[in-house]
Amino acid sequence: MTSGIIDHRAKKLRRQLADRLEADGAVTSPAWGTAFAEVPRHVFVPVFYKQSPTDQRAVDLSSPDEWLDGVYRDELLVIRPDARSSSTVPGLMATMLEALAVEDGHKVLEIGTGSGYNAALLSHRLGDSKVVTMDIDPELVADATARLDAINYHPTLGVGDGLAGWPARALYDRLIATCAPDKVPKAWLEQIRPGGRIVTPIATGIAVLDVTGPREASGHFLPGAAYFMPLRAGQRPPDVGAMIDAVKRSTESGRETSTSPDVWFDGDFSFLRAAAVPGVRFLAKLDNGTAVFTHPDGSWASVADSVVVQSGPRHLWNLVEGAHRTWLELGCPKRDRFLLTVDGPQQQISLAGSDQEWELP
Ligand SMILES: C[S@@+](CC[C@H](N)C(=O)[O-])C[C@H]1O[C@@H](n2cnc3c(N)ncnc32)[C@H](O)[C@@H]1O
Repeated sequence: MTSGIIDHRAKKLRRQLADRLEADGAVTSPAWGTAFAEVPRHVFVPVFYKQSPTDQRAVDLSSPDEWLDGVYRDELLVIRPDARSSSTVPGLMATMLEALAVEDGHKVLEIGTGSGYNAALLSHRLGDSKVVTMDIDPELVADATARLDAINYHPTLGVGDGLAGWPARALYDRLIATCAPDKVPKAWLEQIRPGGRIVTPIATGIAVLDVTGPREASGHFLPGAAYFMPLRAGQRPPDVGAMIDAVKRSTESGRETSTSPDVWFDGDFSFLRAAAVPGVRFLAKLDNGTAVFTHPDGSWASVADSVVVQSGPRHLWNLVEGAHRTWLELGCPKRDRFLLTVDGPQQQISLAGSDQEWELP
């Protein structure tokens, strides 16, 4: 396929994607509709990695139809072979960008440059002098810079830990994060002007927060689920193989549980679970069907056939069971019934119309 044919086909697919985002209600304003119809996602995703259990391979220009069709589907695309970065689902990006409620002249900080596609959309909407984007991974930032340059966008790009924000260009009117912090970092609150807004994943939901002071903000969660990668701090990911070996070798005795490991994957429960039991992760399902959960402190729990085995300083499954009981007692509330309040060092998720709240760690 020549580059002319690729551009022509990409333009058509992009238009279809923008129409789809509008039809789905993810895009609600003409400005973002135009941005999705005009900014070429394929420039930012020259290769993506299929990672299903049956299909693990790179898809790129060598199979042009599959590549372009994949790039312009409303799907998440893994952009690094080690899965440490991805291009977010366009529908979710659009929902977050709409919730950001930018106005002409606003200055925006994005945490998590990744492919650079979101930075390009922001540059299209606001002008690149108003956009600052940063990622912890220098290689990603170098690639994103080159791709943005190639289509003539020159936002400010930085390498660093997003927890610290990007003070050099503060104050910002808006902050959008595409990796998930455990709680709203102090630096973000300090770098957004009072009256500004933060849109960030937290606890598998998207928080839309209005900033009222350097240490104060409050807001709500959007209805949809959002499973973003956690903000990382330069550390290597856990050694899954070593942990699974530890679980298999364990001689700890188990107890019965009436909570199925499947509750972990209930999309609505996952929000309260992440708020109430932060840090716990699903690690893997073993060949014999055992589900394994871990915590950064080294605790783990394995659950199979109504028996749970737990090891380490925290009894992880007791915590998940407790959160699930609470969620059932509360009538299985969905994400958009929860609020987030930041008051100095305290950050709480609460359930509207109840006295239930969960302190973020
Ligand atoms: C879902 S991807 C971002 C998608 C991106 N916005 C795009 O348009 O392609 C999340 C990104 O967050 C980055 N990230 C993770 N931890 C970070 C941190 N502590 N500070 C800054 N970026 C971080 C990852 O390297 C990854 O590229």
